[in-house]
Amino acid sequence: MKLWNAAKIKASKGVSKIPCVTVYDFAFARLADAAGIPLLLVGDSLGMTVLGYASTLPVTMEEMLHHTSAVARGTTDALVVADMPFLSYQISIAEAVRNAGRFLQEAGADAVKIEGGAFRYELVETLTQNGIPVLGHIGLTPQSVNVLGGYKVQGRTREAGEQLVADALALAEAGVFAIVLECVPPDVAAAVTAASPVPVIGIGAGPVCDGQVLVMHDLLGLSESTPPKFVKPYAALAETVRDAFRAYASEVRVGNFPGPENCYPTEAPAQ
Ligand code: KIV
Repeated sequence: MKLWNAAKIKASKGVSKIPCVTVYDFAFARLADAAGIPLLLVGDSLGMTVLGYASTLPVTMEEMLHHTSAVARGTTDALVVADMPFLSYQISIAEAVRNAGRFLQEAGADAVKIEGGAFRYELVETLTQNGIPVLGHIGLTPQSVNVLGGYKVQGRTREAGEQLVADALALAEAGVFAIVLECVPPDVAAAVTAASPVPVIGIGAGPVCDGQVLVMHDLLGLSESTPPKFVKPYAALAETVRDAFRAYASEVRVGNFPGPENCYPTEAPAQ
């Protein structure tokens, strides 16, 4: 049994803050898991960070299943959540259950994430009643970028803030074990967190939430572009990796690599 499950994440509300990070492959899943991060999200942000798409909209079920399997193979203790891609859960409840089930059955995920508030009530209820734990996602929901008119801060008016509280309450009642709250002012996040009976995991939502999630490439300084204001890079890996590639290329060009220590002798040395 894993150390972390959906019920344990839910029970962490008010007990301990929950760190969460996105991961997309075996190697980084092993590192995040070994670091003791309890919640690993295979975000559809992989469309941008790993696959080079301009948004999350082109990401397919097959791409998500492929990356989720790799993450699941690299994880011993953490809860692995697969992000359901655009159009995999919007068309019908039956199709959504089938697709969500594939993440658990074929890819080894422990739960799925879906975007949307109170209007997802029936879907969340059906998934959880059928044994599929659900992580909600409200505030800035990137799959709706074309409706929202861009990646903009949400919940800025009183009505919009109240709607987020209502969405969190509805999702919790429907059965989510936690809710991602993306890109809202800290006072709005504080109101949602206070009202919600399940943990609220913030991203760009200030310090008061029950947990925090960051995109791995932002956290590790692996992105080439300037990260959003809410990101704190904990390393500068893009520079480290670029320097390593340069040093390798230069040693190959001048003939310093491989050196004698990197070569196999003709005869094995005597024992
Ligand atoms: O896809 C993703 O990485 C996400 C996080 C930003 C929460 O949904």
